[in-house]
Amino acid sequence: MLRYLTAGESHGKCLATILEGIPAGLKLSKEFIDGELRRRQSGYGRGKRMEIEEDEAEILSGVRGGETLGSPITLLIRNRDWENWQSLMDPLVQPEDLKEEDKLTKPRPGHADLAGAIKYSQKDLRNILERSSARETAARVAVGAVANLLLQEFEIEVVSQVVEIGGVKAHTADLTMEKILKARDKSKLGCADKAAEKLMIEKIEKATKAGDSLGGIFEVVVANVPIGLGSHVHWDRKLDGRLAQALMSIQAIKGVEIGLGFESSRRPGSNVHDEIYYESKKHQFYRKTNRAGGIEGGTTNGELVVVRAAMKPIPTLKIPLQSVDIVSKDVVKAAVERSDVCAVPAATVVGEAAVAFEMAKAMKEKFGGDSLTEMKRNYASYMEYVSKL
Ligand SMILES: Cc1cc2nc3c(=O)[nH]c(=O)nc-3n(C[C@H](O)[C@H](O)[C@H](O)COP(=O)(O)O)c2cc1C
Repeated sequence: MLRYLTAGESHGKCLATILEGIPAGLKLSKEFIDGELRRRQSGYGRGKRMEIEEDEAEILSGVRGGETLGSPITLLIRNRDWENWQSLMDPLVQPEDLKEEDKLTKPRPGHADLAGAIKYSQKDLRNILERSSARETAARVAVGAVANLLLQEFEIEVVSQVVEIGGVKAHTADLTMEKILKARDKSKLGCADKAAEKLMIEKIEKATKAGDSLGGIFEVVVANVPIGLGSHVHWDRKLDGRLAQALMSIQAIKGVEIGLGFESSRRPGSNVHDEIYYESKKHQFYRKTNRAGGIEGGTTNGELVVVRAAMKPIPTLKIPLQSVDIVSKDVVKAAVERSDVCAVPAATVVGEAAVAFEMAKAMKEKFGGDSLTEMKRNYASYMEYVSKL
């Protein structure tokens, strides 16, 4: 079983995560994890905080001599800005040391502020927003990077790209994964369509000037996935459901689709389902289309896994929306925190990490093993059976 927890507040001392179930013997590259953390922080449209942060993961446990031990892996990401927040956020600060004027009481529409404060009986919204903030996604990206390293051992590739921002759509359907990767890595927005990227940047500039924010859509594609990950037998084992949950749990994600997704509801069945063919020389079943996005009945079918997620615009606005003070009940403008204008490129990296984790979890379930050697042995035996169908 692969599982993880994250801990930490947005302006706390650090974020921490404990990841359990990674088999022993996996080479853990700190450079790769840090590279992924850096990717999350980049992207046009992000706020000033990204310049301060420069995230880096410290590996505190579960690794020796650069290889995993099979024991829980602890990763720690320090907040570079901690010194400036210590007087407000140190767990040992006493209630009487916190000034009345530092309390946040104007909930922002679109955030957990109001519902969280009522649910947890809090009168200072900071006690909610510090944890609900998307800063937590840095820890998820670190976990996803480790999961990705495990997938790489089986030549499984996870690639993501921004496909829409503020209603501007990218057109990349005719590009190969290599071309998408190359173009995406050169793009400020992680978008492989240059013409669309230009229009997206214009839209972000406009939104910045107007004190507004923008959302968008990203896509994650997983290649070289063996047939048979996930299962049809129970609701919580279906891989499509698990991917949707993992992506929907990312802050500000409001929709997830697999393959054709919502579009499949508009077409007749003959134009949705992917016909089955067999290549006798290769002993292989295959499809000429992949409208299902590589998953049928909650199980991978050997095609590319294709998942998309929609992100709403950032809720913290420079020109704030109306709200109500939770203490005085006065009509007020919502609080303005330092904020991004568009975080779709960053959310794309988080989404890629979430998908990598779920895919690694499904691989671990199917092929088990306490060591990577054992997992690879199980994988090889299954793939031999699949190659002789
Ligand atoms: C990578 C990333 C960065 C974000 N940055 C901000 C931000 O700077 N300001 C903000 O108000 N919301 C930001 N958000 C969105 C909020 O975290 C999110 O809307 C909020 O937690 C409410 O979550 P919900 O929409 O899932 O209910 C960001 C989200 C992600 C994924």
